[in-house]
Amino acid sequence: MVTHYHVSTIMENVVYQGMTFEPFIRREEIQKQIQRLADEIMRDYKDDNPLFLCVLNGAFVFAADLFRLCQFPKSEIAFIRFKSYEGTSSTGEVQQILGLNEDITGRSVIIVEDIVDTGVTAVQLRKVLAERNPKSVKMAALLFKPASLKQGTAPEYVGFNIPSRFILGYGLDIDGMARNLPDIYVLKQD
Ligand code: IMP
Ligand code: MG
Repeated sequence: MVTHYHVSTIMENVVYQGMTFEPFIRREEIQKQIQRLADEIMRDYKDDNPLFLCVLNGAFVFAADLFRLCQFPKSEIAFIRFKSYEGTSSTGEVQQILGLNEDITGRSVIIVEDIVDTGVTAVQLRKVLAERNPKSVKMAALLFKPASLKQGTAPEYVGFNIPSRFILGYGLDIDGMARNLPDIYVLKQD
């Protein structure tokens, strides 16, 4: 079989912004957990056609793999971005969804996220989506840092629970870079 990845299958450390990252989760292990998530989602939404909502930018790699493993008869995927504002209300940060043109009224929505860290983004996202009267909203996150959670609840579907360390690759970035790494790396501790 021909592989189009230029990255060596022998995983080595990578350096970004002068920081060293070491191999953390291999592509085979990522695919195995995504298959498990897809099986769970297919089972839970057996007679439904959930709308997958991929949160850009980080989740696009995960969403592409998850979506192709969830073979619903009329599967749809939409892409959204989340924009943050500051100081526009007494509560501080107000967030807004960009690019959601789909009518989600009465629909089962699965938010697809790369990672849930503090949970702030997830809470805001669920709040804004709930205002549009969906049938249900659940979240599938490839990665979850339970020890970092400050708000909300754990995602309903989690690929990996990981420690509160900075990671990159497989869609996750550092200043926009490293999203194209097929495996996941973690900042080296010395
Ligand atoms: P939150 O803290 O749960 O709101 O997560 C906010 C966002 O921070 C996530 O959607 C990611 O884009 C980013 N993020 C959190 N942890 C990491 C990480 O370890 N590497 C890269 N991005 C991260
Ligand atoms: Mg994100």
